Amino acid sequence: MPDASRTERIWIIGASDGIGAALARGYHARGASLTLSARSENKLNELNDNLDSKHQVVTLDVSNRESLKAATDKVAESGLVDRIVHLAALYDPGKVLDLDPDMAAKIISVNLTGCFNLAQIAPKALKPMGQLAITGSVAGYIGLPQGQIYSATKAGVINLVESLRAELSGQVDVRLISPGFVDTRLTQQNNFEMPAVIEPDEAARRIISGLDRKRFEIHFPRRLTLTMKLLRLLPYWASMPLTRRLVQ
Ligand SMILES: NC(=O)c1ccc[n+]([C@@H]2O[C@H](COP(=O)([O-])OP(=O)(O)OC[C@H]3O[C@@H](n4cnc5c(N)ncnc54)[C@H](OP(=O)(O)O)[C@@H]3O)[C@@H](O)[C@H]2O)c1
Repeated sequence: MPDASRTERIWIIGASDGIGAALARGYHARGASLTLSARSENKLNELNDNLDSKHQVVTLDVSNRESLKAATDKVAESGLVDRIVHLAALYDPGKVLDLDPDMAAKIISVNLTGCFNLAQIAPKALKPMGQLAITGSVAGYIGLPQGQIYSATKAGVINLVESLRAELSGQVDVRLISPGFVDTRLTQQNNFEMPAVIEPDEAARRIISGLDRKRFEIHFPRRLTLTMKLLRLLPYWASMPLTRRLVQ
């Protein structure tokens, strides 16, 4: 739990929509001072207006290192933060052979290279032993049909965050956030019924309480995430017939 006697400073990247915007509302409600980041300045300003205009808005593109460096300097100038919560990502569902290669390259550059950029650049704005929370997905646990190239980037993000946890031990409190299905513009592109889908406000509540606890991974809802973890543990001869059934 945060120290109630002082205002927590939190930088949310990917705050303009979906889970990030819900997280901003949740942290605002408990009195935190926020930096709201994403590419869309208008949406960030609109969110800030709805939060009593109390917060800092800093636009950035995580796939552009210069933009991320400038944003990090701006955030650090207004005081080092207690937590950075990184949620920026793109999604374009489809089968591997149907994907637009330009869009696939963009998704890799935002989702995976963006996390790498963030890990190298953003901690400059973080207090010693501050928290760096990066969002993966249960989609990265195991290769499923129709989720590429997004799922491959999320598998990479999980691997990257595991490495960071070890490398930054004793300096930064590195965390992995693994949501299941959350009803946002991202998943509204799906053409199937999403199992155990939850609302962004519910996801934000799970993230806020998980980041106050000690566990490395915050995963939810458990009825989905534990099933996916089990699937990942199975030998291929047992898991592949199950994943093949999901091909549409
Ligand atoms: N929704 C789900 O079911 C689900 C499940 C598992 C994991 N996740 C993960 O949870 C995170 C949030 O997802 P969401 O559903 O809330 O998605 P969303 O509603 O589409 O929001 C994504 C956020 O990322 C920002 N963003 C995208 N590209 C960016 C870039 N290049 N630089 C900076 N910001 C960028 C977007 O703002 P701008 O467009 O303004 O830049 C937006 O604020 C993502 O990492 C996603 O992979 C979501």
